[in-house]
Amino acid sequence: MSVDTLTIPTQCVPQSRISELDFNNIEFGKIFADHMLVADYKDGAWQNPEIKPYGNMSLSPATSALHYGQAIFEGMKAYKNADGDILLFRPLDNFKRLNISGDRMCIPELPEEIFMQGLEQLLRLDAAWVPPTAGCALYIRPFIFATDEFIGVRPSSSYRFMVFSCPVGAYYGQPLRVAIEPNYVRSAEGGAGYAKAAGNYGAALYPARKMQERGYHQLIWTDSREHKYIEESGTMNVMFVIDDRIVTPAVSTTILSGITRDSVLQIARDKGIPVEERKVAVSEIVEAHKAGKLQEAFGTGTAATIAQIATIHYNGEDMDLPAIEGREISNGIAAELDRIKTGQAPDPHSWIYKI
Ligand code: COI
Repeated sequence: MSVDTLTIPTQCVPQSRISELDFNNIEFGKIFADHMLVADYKDGAWQNPEIKPYGNMSLSPATSALHYGQAIFEGMKAYKNADGDILLFRPLDNFKRLNISGDRMCIPELPEEIFMQGLEQLLRLDAAWVPPTAGCALYIRPFIFATDEFIGVRPSSSYRFMVFSCPVGAYYGQPLRVAIEPNYVRSAEGGAGYAKAAGNYGAALYPARKMQERGYHQLIWTDSREHKYIEESGTMNVMFVIDDRIVTPAVSTTILSGITRDSVLQIARDKGIPVEERKVAVSEIVEAHKAGKLQEAFGTGTAATIAQIATIHYNGEDMDLPAIEGREISNGIAAELDRIKTGQAPDPHSWIYKI
């Protein structure tokens, strides 16, 4: 599927660091593959993409992204099939979302050829870093940040686009205890909640830490007006199974339009499982639990994949959900998604981009 019209100058590492990696014991986000892609925006155009050894870079202390947070990112994953080919999962959707985030953050549109061909060439070079191990993947982090050396507040006139990658295992090591957030807000209508903007994550750390101090792994955000409706959870979109139907908040300007979210809902529809994308009231979840109808709850995200939720805290009470092993809907979808990503099942929606 490759379209090689852009040849990116490449400087290879003299010696790979891959021997530092224990493929049977991969921690999330700690060891980085040998190379990275870099392209700069200046004089009104994206230019000079190049691949170089992964490593530190030098920046002015006045680099504007460091002060005002004009920075966006994506997360995507590559897998290996049984023949050792590299399969990227839905990279064009990440590309589109990067530019949607960029538009909201006044970052100039990145051309598709720099993103896609940069990725292809980077992944061919770092192919050995894509784990063949079940449950593992190469996590790929494309990002753009403002690089003007200027501390006035205005959109930067220069930017840097970069991509690096790291082999990863599970993001969350265990089923999650989450708490519904009654006070703090991740995002409000008219804000930048739908953008994958760095500041959205930075601003979420404090409320998340407060919940973590109370013994919960993550929180579930609620709407900014009334704290009445569920939005998303930590680094994930969130879904519930009530009465054998998947119920999930509809994406909006306050919720990130997750690519794993979309994939899970599509697989559910393909399997004939009813899906409801709509406003989900906190009270509905509490009532469903009381009535014994809240069968499953889980988060969806690139890093998290499908992360099971064991307990939901709300208003002083812990709602314990049915055992993970019996969750036929989310476990079935997770297994199917995994088979598609690793080339073990047909790909009816053309999600796989083979390198
Ligand atoms: C992802 O799932 O790729 C994300 O971006 C979440 C991340 C902050 C770990």
